[in-house]
Amino acid sequence: MSVIEMTNGVKAGQSGKQPQVEISLDGPAVAASEGELLVEAILRHKEIPHICYHSPLMGPIQTCDTCIVEVDGQLVRSCGTKVGAHMKVVTESKRAKDARSEAFDVILGNHMLYCTVCDNNNENCRVHNTALALDVQHQEHPFTPKPYEVDMSNPFYRYDPSQCILCGQCVQACQTVQVNETLSIGWELEHPRVLWDGGMQIGGSSCVSCGHCITVCPCNALMEKSMLSEAGFLSGMPKESLNKMIDVVKAIEPEMGYGAIMQVSQTEAKMREERINKTKTVCTYCGVGCSYDVWTKDRKILKIAPLHGDANQISTCVKGKFGWDYVNHKDRLQKPLIREGSNFREASWEEALSLVATKLGTIKQQYGPDSIAIIASSKTTNEEVYLMQKFARAVIGTNNVDNCSRYCQSPATTGLFRTVGYGGDSGGIENIAKSGLVLIVGSQTADSHPVLATRVKRAHKLHGQRLIVADPREHEMAQRADIHFRPRPGTDLVWISAMSRYMLDNGHAKLDFLDKWVNGLDEFRKSLEPFTMEYAAKTCDVPLETLERVAKELAAARSIAILWAMGITQHTRASDGSTALSNLLLITGNYMRDEGGAYPLRGHNNVQGAGDIGAAPDVYPGYQSVTDPEIRKKFEAGWGVALPPERGMDNHEMVDAMHEGKLRAMYLAGEDMISADSNANHVAGAFGKLDFFVVQDIFFSETCRYADVILPGAPALEKEGTFSSTERRIQRLYQALPELGDSRADWKITQDIANRMGANWNYQHPSEIMAEMAGLTPLYEGVSYDRLEGYKTLQWPVAPDGTDQPVLYLNGFPFPDSKARLYPLEFHEPEEAPDNDFDLFLNNGRLLEHFHEGNMTYRVSGIQEETPERYLEISEELAHERGIESGRWVRVTSRHGSLVIKALVTNRVFGKQVYLPHLSQEGPINILTGSHADVATNTPAFKETAVRIKLLPEQGSNPLKPLNPRFSGKPTPQTGVEVERKWKRKDYHMPGTEKLVQIQPQKGGSSYDGSC
Ligand code: SF4
Ligand code: SF4
Ligand code: SF4
Ligand code: FES
Repeated sequence: MSVIEMTNGVKAGQSGKQPQVEISLDGPAVAASEGELLVEAILRHKEIPHICYHSPLMGPIQTCDTCIVEVDGQLVRSCGTKVGAHMKVVTESKRAKDARSEAFDVILGNHMLYCTVCDNNNENCRVHNTALALDVQHQEHPFTPKPYEVDMSNPFYRYDPSQCILCGQCVQACQTVQVNETLSIGWELEHPRVLWDGGMQIGGSSCVSCGHCITVCPCNALMEKSMLSEAGFLSGMPKESLNKMIDVVKAIEPEMGYGAIMQVSQTEAKMREERINKTKTVCTYCGVGCSYDVWTKDRKILKIAPLHGDANQISTCVKGKFGWDYVNHKDRLQKPLIREGSNFREASWEEALSLVATKLGTIKQQYGPDSIAIIASSKTTNEEVYLMQKFARAVIGTNNVDNCSRYCQSPATTGLFRTVGYGGDSGGIENIAKSGLVLIVGSQTADSHPVLATRVKRAHKLHGQRLIVADPREHEMAQRADIHFRPRPGTDLVWISAMSRYMLDNGHAKLDFLDKWVNGLDEFRKSLEPFTMEYAAKTCDVPLETLERVAKELAAARSIAILWAMGITQHTRASDGSTALSNLLLITGNYMRDEGGAYPLRGHNNVQGAGDIGAAPDVYPGYQSVTDPEIRKKFEAGWGVALPPERGMDNHEMVDAMHEGKLRAMYLAGEDMISADSNANHVAGAFGKLDFFVVQDIFFSETCRYADVILPGAPALEKEGTFSSTERRIQRLYQALPELGDSRADWKITQDIANRMGANWNYQHPSEIMAEMAGLTPLYEGVSYDRLEGYKTLQWPVAPDGTDQPVLYLNGFPFPDSKARLYPLEFHEPEEAPDNDFDLFLNNGRLLEHFHEGNMTYRVSGIQEETPERYLEISEELAHERGIESGRWVRVTSRHGSLVIKALVTNRVFGKQVYLPHLSQEGPINILTGSHADVATNTPAFKETAVRIKLLPEQGSNPLKPLNPRFSGKPTPQTGVEVERKWKRKDYHMPGTEKLVQIQPQKGGSSYDGSC
């Protein structure tokens, strides 16, 4: 097994469960794990240079030679050598030290040390630190600039070839962690350098600006543009003066040596600590839950530095790494606004909050508590969601509370509750990566959950994981899949159930597991009668042979992880579709183990939390029923008030109730409901009927237009709290910036309104809210801010002693008999489908660069540059039939609305299916989608919409810009950095030797035998 295989998904510092052996390290015997990388074993005891070695996740790259040691008398690269019993390792011999110095001298030939005026001189530059550690005074190889221009063509980062030490970490990250396969090194060039798509400039290459390469670059060759001229005290000087300074330093270096010069730069680096703050935060976009340090100087966001996150380690996507301009955007709401006629005027907090409290109080008195509704936000923290639902229940006295998980996630939760008992992913990203087969259904994971997708791409590329994708659209994961098939929209339940039947009929069901741990097999087996493979092929419009191939793959898989998202959950039978997937996992025995399992991928950063914390009409925090008298009594005692005994309205029902005049007022925080709910015109019409509407947000959203009072909340960087990711992972975020202007953290606003309405809340810090919540919520019982300090995380349920459950169900299912339940299902045709009048199926979803309607990402200038326009994807076949070229304006009309948009001809969609990304405030997708919804949860059936298109006369420019990676990018897949090609160069020799290195390439990656 290769080292990369051993360390797939394993955090730096962990090295698996290999037997312990003894080695001698510069004399004394020390313990190490057999087969681990020698550099890891050495670093546990002492420092040793290792410029190109990053972590077990990245594996050995072996390009820098600075980690050379002697093993049993032979010089070897310690990063490329595996530990064996009784190895005699010498790091301090003159021979080893000379070899390391020689290696570093070669590096300095590729990198000019001008640290004091370098923006990367922040005590984390490995070239600088190695120069200090080796006490370099002079260099033998003179610095030779490479004959290439600095590449500034990407909006977010730049590459300076002359500073590039050719360590290859960027390549390794791009090829094996992000797996975008953009980067390589032109080892055969006269002057090797990093190449984008084999030699394009960065802007316009296939680079998706995820930032992995910049994050791992050990020096300043790759840098965030936001750091340039900003990080250092002197680095912002005009270039000419800067160059003069560098010349002066270079002139004195031969006489003074580097020592004194490095001392100056060291002092300057220390001074930077005073003004650069590094604050741990959690991504505010999707549900993957990436965490990282945000570097700020005053209000300027210098960079995002991911390193320690349990979910992401070094990974980010373009939004998490670069999508932060919105925080300081001029459009931020900074003062409360009160409606005056058709306009708004600024108001003081005192005036705005008094008005809110008075109006809500009056309406409550006049029409009763159930005439008011509360919408919490899955973008806000768990603590803020908790206060919103407590406000609804304990202050207003209604269970009319919901959040946007209704628009996407509720059916998945229902499917899991029906079958296995917890409404969350059964494991974590690590467990998905370990699985033998990943089945992705209705999720374009690389766009919607980019960092999670990297782990699947990596496992598929490097570790033989099988990948099957069922999706109408050929998105990136579908292109990479071993099998991609396109079921007719709305029919997934049929082929999924047919798979369950196939397993039972053909002896592949895990009968032992079913017998011991699962109820209802007989009834379920009976319910599967209609679901033959032939019926599935016909109903789903998928060739029978394809379904049989899929079935055989599933039957043969060591373990199956199923990932699904809105392609399943936004249908009229969405809960049934989710249930069918969980049934299949039970039949194949893919619960109760640390690979395989159910992964309904959560969309927003805290949509899992918003559901967990009880922003729902039927449950208190931790999914505790509001109609259970015992539970209600517990919350009444905890909150000191009587609570309403009946289930409230969900947001779908609220809209209808507004139209009917039953709902008179709403307090909505952090949700652009008009842009997010289905059937925008219907929702807007409902808001128009409210007597009083309070909206709390960071921008003036579409929904704000209907508000009576608008309260300026604060984004995640301006407050403390916790988010819960799709892995059920609870993570803390810390305040990086003060609240902008007069805006306030949302929990403070809710508390203020509550107190003005008679509550006596006195939370001084979100930790106190968490403590109260944990006391009332068994799932959260052992959660506390101390246990979540810094980068520590917990995956619920958390026991009182703080023990969490990274993998659910290892000891049974949370039902009285500890057994899961198979849930019989029937198929129903989708409610809306193409016909003669509306002949096209409208698919919709996210696009990597933008988040939903784009309230945040449209305010990020680099994203705007790369992806300024939205478009309607149409197939080549349809384009040919209707005479459409990219850029042609078309009118798209559904049974519910109409919008005008440019067409983009693409081979990602097929036949009479069109795709509209969510990213638009001007003409959002939900103008077109109707009010029909999942029968079990009222989640809108966004994916059951038929449209027709009409060509308009205007032909515009291609909506896809040349800077966009989809425009002309052509990745160059490699297994890694391919250092063997460097070693074959005539001008290379292993430091400490005169001989060329002989290497034995191994299958699946670089050679890990570092001996010379
Ligand atoms: S995709 Fe682009 S930003 Fe991401 S690692 Fe590759 S080259 Fe770097
Ligand atoms: S650009 Fe790549 S190869 Fe060059 S120094 Fe940075 S990580 Fe190493
Ligand atoms: S994958 Fe999701 S959580 Fe991670 S950086 Fe991107 S948007 Fe943020
Ligand atoms: S750390 Fe670069 S070769 Fe080992």
